[in-house]
Amino acid sequence: MATATNSKTQALLARQEKYLLPIMSKMLLHGSEPIAMSHGKDQWLFDVEGNKYLDFFGGILTVSVGHANEEVTNATIEQLKKLQHTSALYINELTIIMAEKMAEVTPKGLQYSFFTNSGTEADETAIMLARSYTGNTDIIALRHAYSGRSSAMMTMTAHGPWRLGNVFDGTIKHVKNPYRYRFPLEVSDEEYLDYLVDDLKEMIATTTTGKIAAFMAEPIQGVGGFVVAPKDYFKRILPIVKEAGGLLIIDEVQTGWGRTGKHLCGIEHWGVEPDIMTFAKGIANGAAVGATVMTPEVAKSITGPTLSTFGGNPVSMATALATINYIQENNLADNAQSQGETLRGAMEDMKKQYDFIGDVRGMGLMQAFEFVVPDGSKTPDPSKASALVDAARKRGLLLGKGGLYSNTLRIAPHLNVNTNDMADGIEIIEAALKDIA
Ligand SMILES: Cc1ncc(COP(=O)(O)O)c(C=O)c1O
Repeated sequence: MATATNSKTQALLARQEKYLLPIMSKMLLHGSEPIAMSHGKDQWLFDVEGNKYLDFFGGILTVSVGHANEEVTNATIEQLKKLQHTSALYINELTIIMAEKMAEVTPKGLQYSFFTNSGTEADETAIMLARSYTGNTDIIALRHAYSGRSSAMMTMTAHGPWRLGNVFDGTIKHVKNPYRYRFPLEVSDEEYLDYLVDDLKEMIATTTTGKIAAFMAEPIQGVGGFVVAPKDYFKRILPIVKEAGGLLIIDEVQTGWGRTGKHLCGIEHWGVEPDIMTFAKGIANGAAVGATVMTPEVAKSITGPTLSTFGGNPVSMATALATINYIQENNLADNAQSQGETLRGAMEDMKKQYDFIGDVRGMGLMQAFEFVVPDGSKTPDPSKASALVDAARKRGLLLGKGGLYSNTLRIAPHLNVNTNDMADGIEIIEAALKDIA
């Protein structure tokens, strides 16, 4: 169990341990010395002991444009004073404007939106749509995926520890994820893609009727440790998915809204058009919004009633709209690209200095180190990831961990990170690496 030496944090931890699900206290990021946050402003977070942190993890890639961002917060407060909730029984202009925005910023075939309150619900909606539209049931997902915490989404999630409750649905199958660093053989890019494609074909042939409802993937696996699909991956798998009658569902819960740099949607880097896309996290800078966007054909296949009480409510729509407007007006996808290049360049230099950094990967402001035992075996070393998170925290920088083996360090500054903060963050990561070497 976690302990805290600071008095206010200790008192809060004791209360948390008494009344909140016990596992939550074991999952605290800085387990040995937890942090209790008090407030935030833009790039800064402040804990209850008065310490100030530069935030390079954004509450797991969710605070996209800074804590208490003035424009987003003002839009939320103004709407809160005007109207909180009416339900889907009445027309709400803000929901329409947000749906128009979704159609504008996602690939052009995608036109209709359905709003919910989380990534889990956005993904649930996506598979419900795919099954309704195709009349097929089986779904193919990727190993190391994370999709949420409903029963179906825990089944979709391919990380053993996150699959709770013993309720598993045999219609969801997992193929090899495109995790090049952990592929044991020396092969060309083309041969590696052939291998992944063959695995998908064989999965469909051996574990389904030959017909599938969908293939669902994150372009960069977030919880999986920022595992980036190779450039031609989606182009290669798409025809196989289509031949099996399936739809392509792309989960942009972590990669969406400019996170990967240059484009607002991560999948645009891969040059394919999904049938359905899902969003949450950074879409509303921390407010509870999930969105599923789909083609007209898919949308029109739903003929029965479906309702999310809170989904698309005026306040969350005002927050989501203010967030996307802020991202567009300030060209934050471009900022993510250029600041991401700076960060990545520095990380590549760090890799040259430390043999326990096995891999550097990511795109835009979604970059990771994978730590290994430096003996050529690529044995994951989760202790290094924990140590670096703690060392950076002591120096005033918040980072995240991830990956199936918890040996990945995830770095994801807010999309509006500026040059000075990026330089400071890099300096702290360099110093923290020295601390743990
Ligand atoms: C890629 C991805 N999809 C779905 C989810 C589930 O989102 P939520 O926690 O909002 O239900 C997450 C959450 O981390 C995620 O990373």
